[in-house]
Amino acid sequence: MTKRPDETAEPMAVFSEFLETTSREVDDVMERLMPPVSAMPKVIHKAMRYSLFAGGKRIRPALVVLGYRAAGGKGKVAHTAGAAIELIHTFSLIHDDLPCMDDDDYRRGKLSNHKVFGEGVAVLAGDALHALGFDVLARLRKFPGVRAETVLDVMDEVGRAIGTDGMIGGQVMDLEWEGEKPSRSKVDYIHRRKTAALLGSSLVVGGILAGAPAKTITALRRFGEPFGLAFQVVDDILNVQQAGRVLGKQPGGDERLGKITWPAVHGLPRSQADVTALLDEASRAAPAFGRYMDHFLGLADYISVRRQAGRS
Ligand code: IPE
Ligand code: IPE
Ligand code: MG
Ligand code: MG
Repeated sequence: MTKRPDETAEPMAVFSEFLETTSREVDDVMERLMPPVSAMPKVIHKAMRYSLFAGGKRIRPALVVLGYRAAGGKGKVAHTAGAAIELIHTFSLIHDDLPCMDDDDYRRGKLSNHKVFGEGVAVLAGDALHALGFDVLARLRKFPGVRAETVLDVMDEVGRAIGTDGMIGGQVMDLEWEGEKPSRSKVDYIHRRKTAALLGSSLVVGGILAGAPAKTITALRRFGEPFGLAFQVVDDILNVQQAGRVLGKQPGGDERLGKITWPAVHGLPRSQADVTALLDEASRAAPAFGRYMDHFLGLADYISVRRQAGRS
């Protein structure tokens, strides 16, 4: 990996180690939460596991745990909340790849869910991951010291983030505006909803679980919004620039479908500059997180490096 300038090398290492540890722990939690393949109906459990354990970056669970720790949370409840959000995110990816949506044959370095299991089972596997995600969130109330009220706040936050003014709303307009003239307001509308909403909420869910005061929740959102937007702009840039082998999904699809993307509106050089500006904006919120400041700076740097390295 390319070394970053001195002042950012350290936070990046801090975040990378945190991401690696959290991913491993959250994968263990998900393994325990998922029905075994031997349980009926076997095919759906196989399909759910196929996409869930196909090698995602596990950014959202890491954000939940980071938000939780930064807000003073101890213990492991955030790992289970992060697992729930990763189930929900995986549902969105399976559906996003369907022929009626982006018609993508590859995801996370493997054939897409519908290419292996067929469209019917892929739709249902997405639905089942969505349902299980909320079921797992409801079960957070079983953790010691977690109030039922707090769990409802978490479910409210996630429900909004993926609803018609969140991820699903963004996905709807991503489809509706396919082939239309790209504009600044359209791409902003889509990206803030289809991607930034759930990424930002992942941090906030951690804060809610830790019982954070409003000030901390505001700081988490202040980091999460520009960070989430930068994340999708990088995804757009990689769709134009990277080889599918590195990306784990087929590049070039956005242009083929006439998608409203950041590069389509602003061009590549301006998109790169906007990523830098958005990550700088996010980083300005990092000092609010005390001894976790470097984790947040490293997270911003991780995305900044990703646009060059193209890690999937
Ligand atoms: C892909 O998300 C879809 C977007 C919202 C850009 P990720 O880039 O987090 O994908 P995985 O989870 O690592 O596969
Ligand atoms: C995906 O957006 C957003 C969601 C799945 C919610 P894209 O369609 O741009 O993401 P990729 O490139 O297929 O991962
Ligand atoms: Mg899409
Ligand atoms: Mg897609």
